[in-house]
Amino acid sequence: MFLKTSSLLSALMVLATALAIALPDPSPAPVEVIVEGQDTVIFENIQCGNEHQGLKPICPHLNTTEEHGCVRYVKGFDVTGVVTEVDLTFPEIQDACDCIQACLNRPGTCAAYVWKFSTPASVTAGHRTCTLYSQFNLPAQVAIAIDVANTTNMNINSEELVANGNNPQMGALVAQTFMDANLNTTADPAAVSGEVWQLSTGKAIC
Ligand SMILES: *[C@@H]1O[C@H](CO)[C@@H](O)[C@H](O)[C@H]1NC(C)=O
Ligand SMILES: *[C@@H]1O[C@H](CO)[C@@H](O)[C@H](O)[C@H]1NC(C)=O
Ligand SMILES: *[C@@H]1O[C@H](CO)[C@@H](O)[C@H](O)[C@H]1NC(C)=O
Repeated sequence: MFLKTSSLLSALMVLATALAIALPDPSPAPVEVIVEGQDTVIFENIQCGNEHQGLKPICPHLNTTEEHGCVRYVKGFDVTGVVTEVDLTFPEIQDACDCIQACLNRPGTCAAYVWKFSTPASVTAGHRTCTLYSQFNLPAQVAIAIDVANTTNMNINSEELVANGNNPQMGALVAQTFMDANLNTTADPAAVSGEVWQLSTGKAIC
């Protein structure tokens, strides 16, 4: 992440220098910057100091969100964890925004969502699935084992956790999303994952 940001910034600085020389005064049109694997962003919108930085907001119609949409999403990778799994499918979920809305609809139990091809059947059907969780991927050198028999647990969906071999939750590099039948070869850059954080002010950010 840090490397990616640094290389993006240095690329933009080179671009900015080039533009300062090439563009006539007084007010050059906003420049669209193509960042590989990401949406097109407007150069002036990702300069430090501007309110809107980074990724283009998605799903602006989600009306319980603080910022009229989500800006903390990840495309092409799955940042979700394993606890409190809820599996939703087409036609209930038509797109990534429906998936984020499903997470917003569960403010007490959902903090992370992923809209991707999760099974060979979903690839065959041509519809990505929506999976919700209460937490995230762990870094590679961390593992957590949950005492699923402990009655203090709440809403962890231990049946699903155990059935999927996710207890212990093993840390790993953040997994890429795929769209081929075996889900291991052809990258799916259109898959979306991210978080929904319920703020103490009653709004959510995503
Ligand atoms: C937005 O809020 C309105 C009014 O509270 C509600 O009827 C509508 O279903 C909400 N939209 C979504 C996408 O949840
Ligand atoms: C659940 O875990 C807590 C923390 O380890 C422990 O104090 C408690 O005794 C456990 N309860 C049961 C029913 O196992
Ligand atoms: C993808 O999965 C298939 C089926 O399990 C396997 O035969 C193939 O070698 C895998 N390909 C890669 C690139 O891992």
